[in-house]
Amino acid sequence: MLVSAKEMLEKAVAGHYAIGAFNLNNLEWTKSVLAAAQEANAPVIVQVSEGAGKYMAGFKNVADTVRNVMEYQNITVPVALHLDHGTYEGALKCIEAGFSSIMFDGSALPIEENLAKTKELAELCASKGISLEAEVGAIGGEEDGVVGMGECADPDECKKIADLGITMLAAGIGNIHGVYPEGWPGLRFDVLEAIKAKTGDMPLVLHGGSGIPDEMVQQAVRMGVAKVNVNTECQLVFAAATREYIEAGKDQKGKGFDPRKLLAPGAAAIKAKVLEKIYLFGSNDKA
Ligand code: 13P
Repeated sequence: MLVSAKEMLEKAVAGHYAIGAFNLNNLEWTKSVLAAAQEANAPVIVQVSEGAGKYMAGFKNVADTVRNVMEYQNITVPVALHLDHGTYEGALKCIEAGFSSIMFDGSALPIEENLAKTKELAELCASKGISLEAEVGAIGGEEDGVVGMGECADPDECKKIADLGITMLAAGIGNIHGVYPEGWPGLRFDVLEAIKAKTGDMPLVLHGGSGIPDEMVQQAVRMGVAKVNVNTECQLVFAAATREYIEAGKDQKGKGFDPRKLLAPGAAAIKAKVLEKIYLFGSNDKA
């Protein structure tokens, strides 16, 4: 059964650890992430962006696949199925498709419109027992005006959106999606502290969890981050393992071209990476 992310996040805040939120891309990802969470006895959030939802043949297929894999693999740890960076329309579609958690990303909207739409969805999600993540817009995080080094949220806007009845809040603290650029100055713990001071026990979400030094992630978790999103690192280890298999010529030996063999090293690499992250975030044995 899929669960809302509310309870697992509240426990994470109280216990000073974070729940791993891993983006899914296909069946290999779904099987590997769920197997890792079960092995580590960790509550987990599996999430898809709207693009990945399309790639996986629609949100209904995503929800059915996750449920079916859970049943087939005897997954007993708490699992929330979450929409990552959803539009308003996408959020409604995922609620309809049976997701147990939603992110409405109104960060590109004017703040008043973001607040209004978030409030509307907060009420709808609450009435259905679904958790809701919101995001506030970013302001330049770099004093010297260099773009692409990660942006920071305004703590006062964070407070306004946190008060709307949401479950978790994504707020920029210098983090970036994808591979971090050379010379990235690191997470802004001063901004995180200011956001935490305004938002109290609201679980905070760290996007762009791939490639941040481990000690920085752990410091952020100690300071109130309760959900860490990871996508790129799983993609990189999947690609590297698949490349190694092909470069070793294994696809040309016997039935090595069979996708069940060809994709197996990549799937194993995802599972190992997810396990590594779960232990880093401290959510192991918290199911
Ligand atoms: P990465 O791809 O950088 O891990 O970010 C994932 C993410 O934040 C999804 O919202």
